Formats: sequence, C-alpha cells, structure tokens
Amino acid sequence: MMRPKRKLYSGKNYRRACSVEELREVAYRRTPYFAMEYVEGGAEDEISLARNREILRSIRFVPNVLVDTADRHQRVNLFGRESDSPLVISPTGLNGMLCRDADVALARAAEKHGIPFCLGTLSTTRLERVAEGASGRLWMQLYAMTRRDITRDILSRAEEAGYETLVFTVDSNVFGNREWDRRSYRAPAKLTLRNMLDVARHPRWVWDVLVPHGIPRFENIAEFMPPEAQSADAGVAIVTKLFAPDITWKDVEWLREKWPRNLIVKGILSPADAIRAVEAGCDGLVVSNHGGRQLDSSISSIEVLPGIAAAVGEKMTILVDSGFRRGTDVVKALALGADAVMVGRATLFGLAAGGEAGAGYALSILAGEVDRTLGQLGCGSVSELGPHLLRCPFDV
Ligand SMILES: Cc1cc2nc3c(=O)[nH]c(=O)nc-3n(C[C@H](O)[C@H](O)[C@H](O)COP(=O)(O)O)c2cc1C
Repeated sequence: MMRPKRKLYSGKNYRRACSVEELREVAYRRTPYFAMEYVEGGAEDEISLARNREILRSIRFVPNVLVDTADRHQRVNLFGRESDSPLVISPTGLNGMLCRDADVALARAAEKHGIPFCLGTLSTTRLERVAEGASGRLWMQLYAMTRRDITRDILSRAEEAGYETLVFTVDSNVFGNREWDRRSYRAPAKLTLRNMLDVARHPRWVWDVLVPHGIPRFENIAEFMPPEAQSADAGVAIVTKLFAPDITWKDVEWLREKWPRNLIVKGILSPADAIRAVEAGCDGLVVSNHGGRQLDSSISSIEVLPGIAAAVGEKMTILVDSGFRRGTDVVKALALGADAVMVGRATLFGLAAGGEAGAGYALSILAGEVDRTLGQLGCGSVSELGPHLLRCPFDV
C-alpha cells in the first residue's frame, strides 16, 4: 500500500530544505509569484518543460554491487582544468529579480564549489563587475542581436575581463512564446494590480531587491537601450525584439575567428548540427532545449544526448542542460556521454531562497546526491559511468 506522502518542507529557512524541490518551495515563499513564474515558466503549453522532467525520471539504474567505492570522487576535467563537480551554472537573464547582486552571488557560489559560472548577455550586472566580485571560472553567454554592435561590444569586453569561455546561444533566433510573461503585465512594463499587491506582501524581497537600486536593469547592454527601456520591466518588451532571426553557421565561424578562447554553442539537439559545430571550429556544445522556454514540443536533451555523444563526443566537450534537479539526473547524463551538466533553475531556486548561500546550498544538495549515486552504482569516479548502468526508454 502507498505510504501517504508527507508535505514538502514549506517554511522560509532554506537550510531546512532536503532537496532542490524543497528549495523551490522556500523560493516561492520568499519571492513574489510573478518573479518565480518568470523563473519556472516554459513556452506555450509547456510540453517540453514537463517532458524534460518526465524523461529523466523514467531512466532506470542497473547498479554494480560489492565494489569498493570508499575513495570515490566526482571531479571532471573541462577544457583542461579540473572541476570539483560535473556541474556548471547555466546562463540566465534577469537574475537581479531574485535577490541583490544576484549574478555575483551565483558566480561566488560556483567558485566555492569549484565549478564554472556562465553569465548571461541579459544579466542585471555588468560582466566586468562579476569578474571583479568573483575569481573562479567565468564563462560568458552571447545572444546574437539584430544590432551586431551589441554582440561585438560583449565579445571584446568579455575578452578584456578574462572570461575563459564564450557560450553562443543558437536556439533563440526568435524569442520563445511565453504567455505568462504577457499576463504579468497590464500594459507594456506596467505590473498588474495583483502583482503589485504581491510585491507588497514580500517586504523582505522589496528591501533586498528594490530598495538598493530600484528595478533591476539590463546592465550589460544598458547603453544600447533607449533610456526609457533600460530597466528590466520596461526593457523586456524591447529586448525580445532584438534577437537576430538571421543568424547562421557563418556567425559561428565569424565568432571562431574573433574569439581566441573556448567557444561553445548552446541549444544543439541533433547529431547533424553537432557535426556542423565541430566543422565550425567549436570546442564544445550544450545539448539543450533552453529549459523548455523556446520551441515548445522540442525533444528533450537527454533523449538526443547519446546520438550526439556518438557523433562528436571524441572531438569536443559535451554539456547538457534542461530539467536537471537531482544528482541522479546528473549521473544519468554523464553515463550517456555528457562531460558535465549545466543547471539553470536549480541554482535560481537556491538564489531566491537564500541569496549566494542559498545558491551554494543548491549546489551542495546536487553534489551530495551525485556522490551517493556514484557510490550506490559501484563507481569510484564519473569515468566509470556508461550506458551499461542504465535502462532507457529511448535508443542509446
Ligand atoms: C529564468 C531563466 C532565464 C534564462 N535566460 C537565459 C539567457 O539569458 N540565455 C540563455 O542562453 N539561456 C537562458 N536560459 C536557459 C538556461 O541557460 C538553461 O538552458 C535552462 O535553464 C536549463 O534548464 P533548467 O532550468 O531546467 O536547468 C534561461 C533559463 C531560465 C530558467
């Protein structure tokens, strides 16, 4: 008989959360609903968003027993440097909606956990300030904008500030149809009365987020926005129209010429495109459906990962994201050929629940789960993982 399920921890103290799912509950208590909806939401009917979780949950482990795993570790090598865990923080825009100095907080949490942090083009902190505030591994995400001077500006500033890797997002030539975004606003840039009341019910959030600098701004690209559209609420309507619908592999080749360090394309979902990325000179790729926020009904990353790993795994670094909430999810992807997993919402839940410490707490939960999973599978390190340890409901 099924045991009646206990409610998840639903207080406001993130340190009492046992899982990323419980951190999410805490985040909802501490943050206005429209900000959490922005974090959680997907495109249109959210089919990909739901599928990302379902498919990861449906993969089963077939463990080996009686293997000495006392000295196990989860370190991986990414682009010639060791990471303490097979994790990278995904680029996310508008993090400043969740807590004060959010991008620096995430970068520091990543640094403390010995993993890279990727800053987004649409961040609410300038890339130079993040580099001053955190000294760990910094990656920079790039959107191609209709105004190519924005792209060139980010590129040269990121190089100057010492970012080690450029992550070019290629699944956003057209902005995803996120209907909740439109519902949150009464008119462009005007919050609905309901949302304003919601803000009033979260005085701690107001104190942390709004009091220091007002509504967060798209600081990285602020000088390219009209003055009336620099803040995040007003700028959202304009930014979505700035995405360049005419990007092609020629842009990747152009970036390859201009950017002297590691170059990754993010948003690859087919082996054919993965091969194009190798041909264009990329050092890595992210298998991603943008966390279900772009093309709805697009296939989930984990389903296409084995085919992509078979096609290009020997030639480049393979990262994967979209839907990862448990260490078991991470280990499944590593067993299917990923070199590391990028996490978006998992650390954003931690950030909303407890700032830098909360984001670090999310990473500790995931790393702890990865460690236990490795041990229970009979593996001393991630290099021992492989598809032989899994049963998958798709071709491997
Ligand atoms: C709130 C939010 C904002 C995002 N902003 C960006 C962005 O600016 N650039 C980008 O390449 N991806 C962006 N993404 C996608 C993430 O980089 C990543 O692909 C996705 O979050 C992974 O799925 P997960 O959240 O289930 O881990 C965003 C995702 C979220 C949740």
